[in-house]
Amino acid sequence: MKNQQLFIEQAKGILVKNDVDGYTIPTHGLYPFQWNWDAAITALGWMKVDESRAWLEIEMLLKGQWENGMVPHIVFHKPVDTYFPGPDVWGVKNKIPTTAISQPPVLVTVVKMMFEQAQDKALAEAQLAEMLPKLIAYHKWWYNDRDPENTGLVVSYHPWESGMDNSPAWDESLAAVPPVDYSYKRKDLDHVDSDERPHAEQYDRYIYLVDFFKKCNFDSALIYKNCPYKTNDLGIISILHKATKDLVSLCEQSKNNEQNIAWFNEQLALTENNINTLWSDEHNSFLNKDVITQKLSPVLTTGTMLVIFAELASAKQMKVLTPLLNDWLNETPYAMSSTYAKCEAFEPQRYWRGPVWLHINWMIALGADSYGLTKESEQLKQASATLIDEFGFFEYFNSKTGAGCGGDDFSWTAAIALHWLL
Ligand code: DGY
Repeated sequence: MKNQQLFIEQAKGILVKNDVDGYTIPTHGLYPFQWNWDAAITALGWMKVDESRAWLEIEMLLKGQWENGMVPHIVFHKPVDTYFPGPDVWGVKNKIPTTAISQPPVLVTVVKMMFEQAQDKALAEAQLAEMLPKLIAYHKWWYNDRDPENTGLVVSYHPWESGMDNSPAWDESLAAVPPVDYSYKRKDLDHVDSDERPHAEQYDRYIYLVDFFKKCNFDSALIYKNCPYKTNDLGIISILHKATKDLVSLCEQSKNNEQNIAWFNEQLALTENNINTLWSDEHNSFLNKDVITQKLSPVLTTGTMLVIFAELASAKQMKVLTPLLNDWLNETPYAMSSTYAKCEAFEPQRYWRGPVWLHINWMIALGADSYGLTKESEQLKQASATLIDEFGFFEYFNSKTGAGCGGDDFSWTAAIALHWLL
């Protein structure tokens, strides 16, 4: 990179700028609350600035945890009117309002990394002791509430839960959801160009689902039975699997967790046995599945490649996934596009339909490392550093031109830079 020290200062400055009383917003205006996977990734960045602030990020996120264990996708710590849909639309009446879905659970993986990297061991141990029961409850919620039939493959109820909102992988499943029959004002378009954001037809269905959860009174069993959108999302399944392995390892380091360890090991085995139901010989890849129609989605997204982050691919599968990864990395000048550029739905700048996201590059690079693919991992790192170097700390980047898209001075981009690149 051109000037390491300058970039380090800039990245730290972004975290400080986005700090709001102990939690970090992703960026001002567009995302003015605390998001679940953003907070986890951002805590890794804070570890390079101030360890106690990093632990506070996680503590603040866990303040939104539901009694049933769910850690919500947004915690609305205090009112801000630049975002839609806010707490009134979600209708969750907890002490701290939140949304009613979760997000890719990278949280425990991050906590384990923080614990291992901590210079202040006493603080890390005290924090972990306080958090571990909450993290266990979160993972139990995923398996119990989102896989009540023990398939080994948790179900997701909303594209926002995937974190990859308008990924083409969800197009067919979302099209089957009715649109809302009233008008509302989107606020994302006050901050970002419409050609970088989801279309109105998608928003109408996102909001329908929000209303549906409210009508079900947030009853898990009722939602599982009747939700018009249910997917096996490979991003969530893989990130959960990796995080559960990390959770087992954290439990092994503390006392009185034998029962939990045994239970989580059973869940891990179930996923390892059943992940192959999402493999397609025709596409030489794992694919996301619509749980209602039982159809696999033919679109290759970085979500499908995240199986390597969880080490869920066999040696035989890696024989075809490795050339696919290489081709994917070389297909656009700036890698790695969130949709494989050879797929018809690929759009290099529209949110999750083709741009590059650095925290995804980081997870896939870790996966590549675990399979000994050091060249690919290094290529991902170099590509990510180039994007920051040439274009700055944006939310995501156009995979053809590298241009920064979405929000600027973005927390998770700054955090990934501090944790991985600088
Ligand atoms: C949004 O509002 O665009 C967010 O991605 C939802 O999490």
